[in-house]
Amino acid sequence: MKSFFTETLLAWHHAHPRPMPWSSEKDPYRIWLSEMILQQTRVKQGTSYYLALTEAFPAIQDLANAPEEKILRLWQGLGYYRRVRQIHAAAKYIAFKLNGCFPTNYETLLQLEGVGNYTAAAIASFAFDLPHAVLDGNVYRVLSRFCGIETPIDDPNAPALFSKLAHRLLDKTQPAVYNQAIMNFGALQCVPKSPVCEACPLKTYCFAFQQEQVTYFPVSSKKTTKNTRFFNYLFVKAGENVWLHQRIEKDIWQNLYELPLIETPIDMETADALITYIQAHPKDWWAENLSIVASNLRKSAFEQQKFNYRHWRITFWVASAEKNFFSFKAPFFKMPFEQFHQLPFPKAIADYLQMEWEMHKR
Ligand code: ADE
Repeated sequence: MKSFFTETLLAWHHAHPRPMPWSSEKDPYRIWLSEMILQQTRVKQGTSYYLALTEAFPAIQDLANAPEEKILRLWQGLGYYRRVRQIHAAAKYIAFKLNGCFPTNYETLLQLEGVGNYTAAAIASFAFDLPHAVLDGNVYRVLSRFCGIETPIDDPNAPALFSKLAHRLLDKTQPAVYNQAIMNFGALQCVPKSPVCEACPLKTYCFAFQQEQVTYFPVSSKKTTKNTRFFNYLFVKAGENVWLHQRIEKDIWQNLYELPLIETPIDMETADALITYIQAHPKDWWAENLSIVASNLRKSAFEQQKFNYRHWRITFWVASAEKNFFSFKAPFFKMPFEQFHQLPFPKAIADYLQMEWEMHKR
């Protein structure tokens, strides 16, 4: 039985045809050439190189017999010219040592110059329908988002972990179709920046989407510290009302509601630290409410670790006061706490408000 992921991915693939000159190609030589090109450039730019190279060298013997300069000329613009020497060496090896018979399994493909795990899996599956799952940047991204994998993709353990998962999800009855599907899905749907998750058929079970952590995945040890943002949300209760704010920034939380926010460049460990920050960075709404905020502020015990945001680290702070004490102006507004379920909030904030609401009802 296929998993939800595999079945949905294949259905998406059939609904989103992506014509490429090597689509459904079964000749290992042509597949190998296309993959060598696509390690250097994107599909759009690679297409004309593929057409020119296969026209000039229709079979592996043509490539093996060609002067290196002719190949270099056709490769011009793709960069990494060592690749040309690798291609030429592999072509000569196959044409002259293997009598023109392209290696037919993963292990023997790996012995070709310039062919690593990814390319061997691609050729083995596309040309010979062998059950090897490809693992490239697209696949890392799709799997890490869907499964919520915290292991950084540059961690030494990542290849083994992702390989195991990729192999489990692979449709072993049609590895060529499946591998093309996951690569296309990563290139067209689950893109690195601003993916259109609302229109994604995997969203119901996508960990990153459900947790509103799409920008956080894939985790990379390089980006975690660099891009971390620290959000301090103020839960300001005045009588039966809470103060809210609608988020207009064009990010994944656009138009959702939130609590009054103070973003800080570092983690605020104590209420004193946050107050000192506010004093040093007076903004209108902070300044007007500083005295009451300052005298009342406490860090919520709500465990931010639960979300394990590294990109957006959230701390909730509680400040309560008598009715109407606070004087936030638009775009802030107050609302009876009991009505908060009526508005859309980011999940992290909704969870926090739910916790406060349950405490409040007691
Ligand atoms: N990138 C590398 N190989 C690819 C392929 N076969 N299709 C689309 N993108 C790719």
